[in-house]
Amino acid sequence: MRRYLTIVALLGAVLFGGTALAPAAEKAPAAQPPAQWQLHPPLGAEGIYDPSNPALSVLQAPQEALGVLPPNPTGGNYVNWVEALRRGAINPRKGVQPDAQMNVVDMNVLMTRTASMPNVKFPHREHTEWLACTNCHPAIFLPKKDGNPVNMYSILKGEFCGVCHGKVAFPVTDCFRCHNTPQDPRRLK
Ligand code: HEC
Ligand code: HEC
Ligand code: HEC
Repeated sequence: MRRYLTIVALLGAVLFGGTALAPAAEKAPAAQPPAQWQLHPPLGAEGIYDPSNPALSVLQAPQEALGVLPPNPTGGNYVNWVEALRRGAINPRKGVQPDAQMNVVDMNVLMTRTASMPNVKFPHREHTEWLACTNCHPAIFLPKKDGNPVNMYSILKGEFCGVCHGKVAFPVTDCFRCHNTPQDPRRLK
């Protein structure tokens, strides 16, 4: 990356700086990192690491590792992991065994007990690209449409969707990633 920036700076100097190549390269303003880097607090400022620890400098900066992935500005660790997988930006192993397989099912379940909020279209596909069925069935959800007493209070308490969302998946404050489907207008009358 740094090397690439140097080349860009040198090219800039050649194109716009004329003869005084070296000084022009020195004066070039520091290149701006991608905007999404600003989402990631630097090590020591995130409340996890001790900022006075001199060994912090040997750790990879989160913005360097995560800032290249598609951003999710609303929270979590500021990465849209669904989009990262879709774009092939990451390629997680299917399991511990080298021959492990994922059983991906493309089936949506429309959940309509959402009061005045848009409905929740629960996508099996985006879940089963990461998770085996047994992560959810039958312990968290009976595999039956409207077969589980889900509401926001229980989700915020860490049940149902809240077993994962806000912990290992995008946070519960991302209302409209779950409430992603307009209600049937006939039902609102
Ligand atoms: C992340 C959790 C999760 C995973 C993983 C998951 N499901 Fe589901 N499944 C749900 C939810 C939520 C519902 C809807 C329950 C409700 O409406 O109360 C559901 C419903 C179902 C239904 C009932 C559909 C209907 O119309 O009644 C079936 C069948 C099902 N799942 C099969 C599977 C299979 C097979 C897998 C694995 C390939 C799987 N599920 C993986 C969460 C999950
Ligand atoms: C066992 C863990 C688990 C449970 C339970 C779970 N999810 Fe997820 N969910 C994930 C993971 C992991 C992802 C993908 C990573 C991410 O987006 O943070 C995901 C992604 C999603 C997405 C995809 C968003 C997109 O951008 O396409 C939606 C929508 C979603 N979950 C809704 C729900 C709803 C609604 C429930 C409850 C009915 C639920 N999830 C229950 C783990 C879970
Ligand atoms: C991880 C997914 C998810 C997120 C994020 C989420 N919800 Fe929900 N919400 C659900 C599900 C699932 C239901 C129940 C739907 C059903 O059972 O038919 C629900 C139900 C509701 C209901 C009706 C039931 C109740 O508890 O009153 C309201 C209102 C609601 N959500 C508001 C919100 C608001 C506001 C936010 C953001 C602060 C939010 N939701 C974020 C999944 C989610």
